[in-house]
Amino acid sequence: MDIKKDFPIFNNRNIAYLDSGATTQKPIQVINAINEFYEKYNANPHRGAYSLSIEATEVYENTRDKIAEFINAKSREEIIFSKNATESLNLLAYSYGLENLKQDDEVVISIMEHHSNLVPWQKVCEKTGSKLNYMYINDEFELTDEEIESKITNKTKIVGITHVSNVLGTINNIDKIIKYAHKKGAIVIVDGSQSIPHMKIDVQKLDADFFVFSGHKMLAPLGIGVLYGKKELLNKMTPFLMGGDMIEYVYEQKTTFAPLPNKFEAGTQNVEGVVGLGAAIDYIKNVGYDKIKEIEDEVVSYAIESLKKLDYLDLYLTPNKENHSSVISFNIKGVHPHDVASILDSEGVCVRSGNHCAQPLMRFLGIDSTCRASFYFYNNKQDVDKLVNAIEKAYGMFKKYIKL
Ligand code: ALA
Repeated sequence: MDIKKDFPIFNNRNIAYLDSGATTQKPIQVINAINEFYEKYNANPHRGAYSLSIEATEVYENTRDKIAEFINAKSREEIIFSKNATESLNLLAYSYGLENLKQDDEVVISIMEHHSNLVPWQKVCEKTGSKLNYMYINDEFELTDEEIESKITNKTKIVGITHVSNVLGTINNIDKIIKYAHKKGAIVIVDGSQSIPHMKIDVQKLDADFFVFSGHKMLAPLGIGVLYGKKELLNKMTPFLMGGDMIEYVYEQKTTFAPLPNKFEAGTQNVEGVVGLGAAIDYIKNVGYDKIKEIEDEVVSYAIESLKKLDYLDLYLTPNKENHSSVISFNIKGVHPHDVASILDSEGVCVRSGNHCAQPLMRFLGIDSTCRASFYFYNNKQDVDKLVNAIEKAYGMFKKYIKL
């Protein structure tokens, strides 16, 4: 199965692309679906009585059905289109957090959250007088059951948790977190940005109250995201963005809002993004999550084994393979990750370097930044070999300057 051939960028650029945690490359099927939309169906959905607009509406709404089925939502009204996971999380902080939190309530998040699932909670806690508490990781970069149970208490009203860490690749035990939080009367928001590209999500089985993700990390275009929420919760929430198709009646001094899901979709929507996301889901379903896991397990295990042989590297990942996804953060001891990433780039290897929008985690680990190789099922062992050779080259260049 030569998956790379479906991705035009790999014909145009001779690269080992190891930054899929930031955004994935796009298969030709997704690119073609977007072209087809503009060539055959482009109009503003929900706004025209003419057939072209009706067809555009169908394309848009059919994708909502597809997503509901893909994540096993109970109803299509529980699927809200957003710009990305960040916007979905901000929507929740403002529309749910601001309205439901009171003085002395608690919000619990983990130290490995992306800033998008952290800064909005800081702001909402400041405004409501609630307290923001953190679950910290152990030496194996994991959240223990004891930590979960000691931080989620009867005072906790909201738990925000990333399913998979974008820095460590740790797969959090969200089953445990959701069950325990519900026992304590809290709702749970899962950031699935780094999980849904790699593993099957069943929101009903998880019993997640909210689950958010970005399309662009799962083969879809940039600028399209999803907010899944339980209908009874979404129904009670006030919209975060106002205007456009989210209204029902507007009077000079007062407005009533459209029913779900439109209530949360203000302004003209990113229909090409929605179309691309639909095509991306078709592509993922066609390959199958079992195959995706099989390929990634093989390539990521090979990468871990190869990197472990380089004794000048620090690796930041759990030793428990079953709790680790497709992200490997590393540093050459004593060398700044931006310098390493530049040398890797000169060898055609694309990795992200920096704090990965997770400064509190970096501070907790006692470092400023890391290099991060993040894999997807189009990567292969040759990409890993290229990475290892490039790291060896970087180390060779820097070793005489390293002061530990
Ligand atoms: N959140 C994305 C990442 O982890 C951009 O790289």
